[in-house]
Amino acid sequence: MPQQPLVPPRLIAHRGLSARAPENTLAAVRAAHEAGCRWVELDVQLLGDGTPVIWHDRDVSRCSNGRGRLADLDIDQARRLDAGSWFDAAFAGESMATLEQMLTLIDELALGLNLELKVNRGRDPKALVEHVLPTLLDALPAERLIVSSFDATALTQARRQAPAERLPLGALFERIPRDWAARCAAIDAYSVHADWRRLRASRAHDIVQAGHALLCYTANDPAAFATRWEWGVHGVISDDPTRFTMPGVDQHPT
Ligand code: G3P
Ligand code: MG
Repeated sequence: MPQQPLVPPRLIAHRGLSARAPENTLAAVRAAHEAGCRWVELDVQLLGDGTPVIWHDRDVSRCSNGRGRLADLDIDQARRLDAGSWFDAAFAGESMATLEQMLTLIDELALGLNLELKVNRGRDPKALVEHVLPTLLDALPAERLIVSSFDATALTQARRQAPAERLPLGALFERIPRDWAARCAAIDAYSVHADWRRLRASRAHDIVQAGHALLCYTANDPAAFATRWEWGVHGVISDDPTRFTMPGVDQHPT
């Protein structure tokens, strides 16, 4: 089968459909799929025993009934946490998802995945990439995958492990730095992921002209975001992409 080209995703559910389900869980990804989303963004980190899990914070207190650092847990301890009740009693008993569980679900639902390599303070970017990439590359084809990170070391390591045609990489920025083009060239980046509030029209134009997909995070107000489409932005990462049903921004781009 010839490989399909990766089409820049228009709407991406941030941490799954995190407006309606506990972020980064299997439930949030199912909710995204049920709402008609074709792509999800999720964060991956390692537990203390090296198991890759889908989790955003450095510790577990905000999004579970536990306390302490993710790096201090092994898989048995992590599995015992309730990662759903903090959001709503309807999600009681939802567990922290391992990367492996999540990839099985993503594949079942035929979703696209923007996996963010989340390098929190004190964590090792190389270890993260080494534990995550083999499983990820086994699970998903290039046309349904973008791996992004704020962490340049993680991105460099990821590129060492797979070429651009196999692994689309996204450079994540809070504020786009002056040397964005060199940074993108260094990792043969597919996409640039920008904070939509900090992005400026001229910079957006330059990024698109350079041939990169330009994705913006995390926008939840389609009216406030409208100018960004005019600037050439390809896609939005939103806690609730279903709000972005407006002329020219359908949910099922072909
Ligand atoms: O990948 C876009 C966005 O998720 C980056 O910020 O903190 O929500 O992971 P954060
Ligand atoms: Mg993220």
